[in-house]
Amino acid sequence: MGSRLDLFLLTIAILLGTVLSDLILSKVDRRVDLRSQIVRVTSTLKVENDGTNSVLEVLLAFPDNHVKHLAYLAVTPKEGKGKSKDSANSFPMELVHPKDMPPALTFYSVSLPKPLAKGDSLTFDVLAVFTHALRPFPEQITQADIQLLVFQESAHFLSPYAVKVQSLSIKLPDARIESYTKLENTKIHGSEIKYGPYESLPPFSYSPIVVHYESKQPFAVAQELVREIEISHWGNVQVTEHYNLNHGGAQIKGEFSRLDYQARPHVRSASAFRNLVARLPPRARSVYYRDEIGNISTSHLWGDSKKTELEIEPRYPMFGGWRTSFTIGYSLPLHDFLFQSEEKRFLNITFGCPINDVVIDTLIVKVVLPEGSSDISVSTPFPVKQLQETKISHLDVAGRPVVVLEKSNVVPEHNQYFQVYYKFNSLALLREPLMLISGFFFLFVACIVYMHADLSISKSSASYLAKLQWDEVQASVQQVQSIISRCLSIHDKLEASLRDLSRTGDVQSCKAARKAADASLKELIKELKPLLTFLQSSQQASQILPKVEDLVAKEKDMQDRLLAKHSTVVDCYEKKYGGKEIENRVAQQQQKINALRQEVDDLLDFVDEI
Ligand SMILES: *[C@@H]1O[C@H](CO)[C@@H](O)[C@H](O)[C@H]1NC(C)=O
Ligand SMILES: *[C@@H]1O[C@H](CO)[C@@H](O)[C@H](O)[C@H]1NC(C)=O
Repeated sequence: MGSRLDLFLLTIAILLGTVLSDLILSKVDRRVDLRSQIVRVTSTLKVENDGTNSVLEVLLAFPDNHVKHLAYLAVTPKEGKGKSKDSANSFPMELVHPKDMPPALTFYSVSLPKPLAKGDSLTFDVLAVFTHALRPFPEQITQADIQLLVFQESAHFLSPYAVKVQSLSIKLPDARIESYTKLENTKIHGSEIKYGPYESLPPFSYSPIVVHYESKQPFAVAQELVREIEISHWGNVQVTEHYNLNHGGAQIKGEFSRLDYQARPHVRSASAFRNLVARLPPRARSVYYRDEIGNISTSHLWGDSKKTELEIEPRYPMFGGWRTSFTIGYSLPLHDFLFQSEEKRFLNITFGCPINDVVIDTLIVKVVLPEGSSDISVSTPFPVKQLQETKISHLDVAGRPVVVLEKSNVVPEHNQYFQVYYKFNSLALLREPLMLISGFFFLFVACIVYMHADLSISKSSASYLAKLQWDEVQASVQQVQSIISRCLSIHDKLEASLRDLSRTGDVQSCKAARKAADASLKELIKELKPLLTFLQSSQQASQILPKVEDLVAKEKDMQDRLLAKHSTVVDCYEKKYGGKEIENRVAQQQQKINALRQEVDDLLDFVDEI
């Protein structure tokens, strides 16, 4: 807005002078906070009724090109000293189009809590929050550059009323100021620029100023955030948040060097952000953070009785223009958020995003109610677009009603409580378990039918006896198997004793090992006898018997050859034959043993199958 418009507004204002002359602003203090990507303007206005009639409404004016960035506007009574305001007692306000006003302006009419009589005055605060109001300049920087931002305002408070005394202060991040517009009464204190006081200015005064400064603040912008809040009457509220995030600051140009980044991340990549902190409600459980690749482990979670904090770190640092998508999920105790009022239940939970200082272009909040909920109504502290959908998940018959709330341009100030009221028949709660129970019931009946068939085999019947016998056959075959396996491990011990002998030449201990092996093998053969006798006498075993007998015979053959080999080797050692000689003597035996071992292993596998 140039000074030509200024002049134009002034002209119109003089023409309008009489229309709005009842009110004047006796004092205006504006404080602009530029310490984050979100611009917060707090104005303390003292309105005075200078006319004759009592006044009920005060007009606030904004240039149209600022209004498109206006995310939040609240007017609250001035109480105490700079206390944080509760939105509950804010003054009602509406968009109005008063006649005969200058063009390119938007007006809001604020209703005062009580009429302002002649000569009376009232002081209140106006908080206006703007997004995307800071313009990176230059628009493109390299990885090593620090981002510079441009902020434009008017040094004079734009108002349809005359202003007696006014001042403006602009709080900047603690960094270098590239330049700022110098007017009369401009002072700078550290990171704060002060304009004013200016006295006795006519309505619609406008004096553009520009501040150009450094900022390393994260510019996290979620083009879209979908929060799904699912109520389960079985004890929890499941929240799933899908983020589509970018860095809305100066675009990075040129190649990104990870080497540079890792070497000196703070110096070389001042404009990037690495992490974000989500403030979740206390008692949040099963918290996760993932993207399309999978879980991201670089997150930290801590909490106390008041909050749970989740620090998340995307897979790469975020530079200007870069994007990332991820999902955060957590579960909350139902009794912290679901209440009963008369005959309705209601969910009372916060609307906005739990991540600090994120600007959300489009926020979609979906509240999934239990199946069978009816009479649904929503109460929000600010206007939102409302839709209703149905979500069908497993075990649902008709699907769950979903309340969809949509709002654009969302800032942390919107992190206020909203309520979803609904009626719910407790019997409907039993629907899912009833479905499960009836499912189990049918399964149970089916089992009984099956069991009954099996039970009809009486204990004396032939088939019952046959079953018993077959069980016995199986048990015996298993025992045979285990005996053969024990024999094989004794074979391995004998082989080991021969290897020890060739290494140490200690004939005595080799003989001792042989003695122990002989004794064990004898025991095992004794155990094997009755099992074989039983299998040979059993009709049921006729199929498997040949294989079992073959197994036992092959093992016996192998055992004999191994024992013979053992004797030969020990004998040769005692006669002090050379290694070559010994090898020659047992070579043939060894070949046979190897072949038999293969056959025994195969048979064991075969018998194992029955
Ligand atoms: C991701 O983390 C969540 C919560 O810790 C866990 O339930 C899930 O199994 C994990 N998924 C993978 C693929 O590791
Ligand atoms: C919702 O919860 C907040 C915080 O506990 C509380 O201040 C507010 O009164 C509740 N709103 C309703 C309608 O119960």
